[in-house]
Amino acid sequence: MEQLHPDVKEVLLSEEDIRSIVERMGEQISADYADRNPLVVAVLRGAVVFTADLMRAIKCPLAVDFMAVSSYGEGVKSSGVVRIVKDLDTKIEGRDVIIVEDILDSGLTLSYLVDLLKGRNPASIEVAAFLVKDVPGNTPAVSPRYVGTHVPDAFIVGYGLDYAERYRNLPYIGVLKPAVYQK
Ligand code: PRP
Repeated sequence: MEQLHPDVKEVLLSEEDIRSIVERMGEQISADYADRNPLVVAVLRGAVVFTADLMRAIKCPLAVDFMAVSSYGEGVKSSGVVRIVKDLDTKIEGRDVIIVEDILDSGLTLSYLVDLLKGRNPASIEVAAFLVKDVPGNTPAVSPRYVGTHVPDAFIVGYGLDYAERYRNLPYIGVLKPAVYQK
């Protein structure tokens, strides 16, 4: 077992846990999209690690493209308006689109993206979220077709998820020690 990062309090999902979740999601998507050549859309930056694994777990032909979005700050984030920093290079009219996200929290980012891409007349659009954060009293604005697992409302990092752009390269999902973000 790899040494735990000193800033991480505990491991929530080990590499082994992640592997089996991704495997299962890949099987579901492969069965649903056989012969449909879906376009997998990864939302930068957090979803990159999950997308790289998920696309290799999908056994049917697919294409991949990337979008980058940013919220203008907390106030705007809660209104669900995000700014497109990098748009798709692929035309999605008539395509089956799968948006891939690392984590769904309020769901506002995804809700905005789904509405935006729906306006381009894809044949279908679904969401694959590796994690859904369970926040008491909060119902996410989007219900993903494919969900890896649910996580508690803790400060989690790794497997693409960052704190101040750090920890994205940890191969597991861990809970950050409060001392790290209370500094
Ligand atoms: C995270 C995550 C989602 C979004 C989820 O991205 O990747 O895009 O927040 O939150 P929501 O459901 O409340 O909208 P972040 O803005 O941290 O950017 P990153 O992917 O570059 O880390």
